[in-house]
Amino acid sequence: MDDPKITMAQSDVPYTPFHPEHAVYGEKHIPGAKRNDQKRLYVDFGTERHDDKQRYTSSAVMTLEWQKIWRKAWILCGHESDLPEVGSFMKVDFGPESILVVRQADQSLKAIYNVCQHRGMQLEARDFGTNVRFNCPFHLWQYDLAGKCIKVTDRESFRAEALDHDLDIEQIRVDSWKGWIFISMDRDAAPS
Ligand code: FES
Repeated sequence: MDDPKITMAQSDVPYTPFHPEHAVYGEKHIPGAKRNDQKRLYVDFGTERHDDKQRYTSSAVMTLEWQKIWRKAWILCGHESDLPEVGSFMKVDFGPESILVVRQADQSLKAIYNVCQHRGMQLEARDFGTNVRFNCPFHLWQYDLAGKCIKVTDRESFRAEALDHDLDIEQIRVDSWKGWIFISMDRDAAPS
């Protein structure tokens, strides 16, 4: 990456390491800079101090971050070596969500929400393990390694409303790069 000082030196704004004008997170208009230089990013090492403490304590800011950033980003959650065999899983508790990343029979990975489609019970409390299937501990519904509901135990005992929707668990996106596993809750998230 280019030295940010070089980029700034080409602008009319004198470079000072912690000047708020230079602490940016995206494209910044730099007066007098050439067009390409305006697209360059200043590297924010998190050294700036913000006077507005609200951003660290406000639940509204936290909610906004969750909606605008974390639900849309690719999140590093582990390494493929953590899932060595068919049925190996890792539980990723992230914000209000709990997600299971699972090694499939064809060696691919799937990521599913760690939530039973009956009454929302978490399927797994362990952080790591190996399963043939996932059994809900509440009423024993069963799901395969990709989240498909394969058995409603004592089906006749459930009211119709409990069964008249999609009983499979929603999958989220999962991919790996050089062995590192990433998940994203955004179906349209671009590769990063
Ligand atoms: S909550 Fe999972 S089977 Fe009822």
